[in-house]
Amino acid sequence: MKVLIATEKPFSKKAVECMREVIEGAGHECSLLEKYTSPEELRQACADADALIVRSDIADAALFSAAPNLKIVVRAGAGYDNIDLEAATKAGAVVENTPGQNSNAVAELVIGMAILAARNNYDGTTGFEITGKRLGLQAFGQVSRHVAALAKGFGMEVKAIDPYCPVEVMADNGVGVAESLSELYSTSDVLSIHIPATPETVGSIGKELIGKLPKGAILINTARKEVINEAELAEILQERPDLKYFADVKPKNADELKERFGNRVFFTPKKTGAQTAEANLNAGVAAARQIVAYFADGTDRFRVN
Ligand code: 3PG
Repeated sequence: MKVLIATEKPFSKKAVECMREVIEGAGHECSLLEKYTSPEELRQACADADALIVRSDIADAALFSAAPNLKIVVRAGAGYDNIDLEAATKAGAVVENTPGQNSNAVAELVIGMAILAARNNYDGTTGFEITGKRLGLQAFGQVSRHVAALAKGFGMEVKAIDPYCPVEVMADNGVGVAESLSELYSTSDVLSIHIPATPETVGSIGKELIGKLPKGAILINTARKEVINEAELAEILQERPDLKYFADVKPKNADELKERFGNRVFFTPKKTGAQTAEANLNAGVAAARQIVAYFADGTDRFRVN
C-alpha cells in the first residue's frame, strides 16, 4: 500500500524517519509531501495514495474525489475539524486521530502563554505570579488534563467544566467542577479554552462570556480560532482595558487587534502548540502505526467516522 505523509507544516526530520521505518518495516511504500503551497498540489500527491497522514491539512470532498484509492486518513493530532467526515465516509475511507499524543506540548504552551501574559510580555514592567491564581479550563480533554497537572505544580487553583467528562474524572485529577460557564469565567484569573470547533461551539465565546472574567484576567486559546466571536472579542477588549487575549490560533482580525491593543494580545505566527520534537514523534509514529494496524487486520480503535 502507498502511504502518503502530507504536511504543510512539516514534522521534525526524526519523526519522519521513524514514521518511514514503521511504514516501510510493515512492507508498505512511504511518500512525503511537505510545505505544499496549494490544495491542488495536495490533491495531485494523493491521486494514488492508499493511506494519508495529515496534521491540520484540509482533507475535503475535492481531495477524496481526487484520491480514489484512499482507504484511511489519520490526522496526526487531536482535532479533526480539517477533515470532511461525511465526504470520507461516502468515499469509503476510515478517518482516525491520535488523541493524547501531542497534549503535553500544547499544555506547556498554555502555561508558557499564561506566564508571558502575567509578566506583560517581559517588557520590564511589574507583572504578577500565576502561583495561587485561579485557572479555569473550558473542556476537560487530554490537553486540559495536562494543563491541570502543570498548573497544580505552579500552585494554581484549578476548576473545569465539560458536559462530556464525568465529574469523577475531574475529581481524580484534583480539579474542581464549575457549575456553569458563567461561573467558570467569572472566577478564573486565567481561562484556557479547550473546546473543539463544532457547529455548536463556533462563535460561542463572545462579549457576554469574556466580559464575566475578573479584573486583570488572561484568556488563552490554544484550541481553534473559530470558537471565538472575533468582532465581540475586539469590543470587549476595548471596553475592558484590563483583559488580555493570548492565542495559538491567530484570529482573522489579528492585525487589527495587535494595532489596537498592543501587548494585551499575543498570537503565534503559526499554530505551534504541537510543534515540539516529542509531540511530532509521538503523534507521527502513532499515526503510522495506526495505518499499519488497519491494513494488517482492520484495527480502527481511533476511528472518528
Ligand atoms: C491538534 O488538534 O492536534 C492540534 O491543534 C495540533 O495541530 P497541528 O498538528 O496542526 O500542529
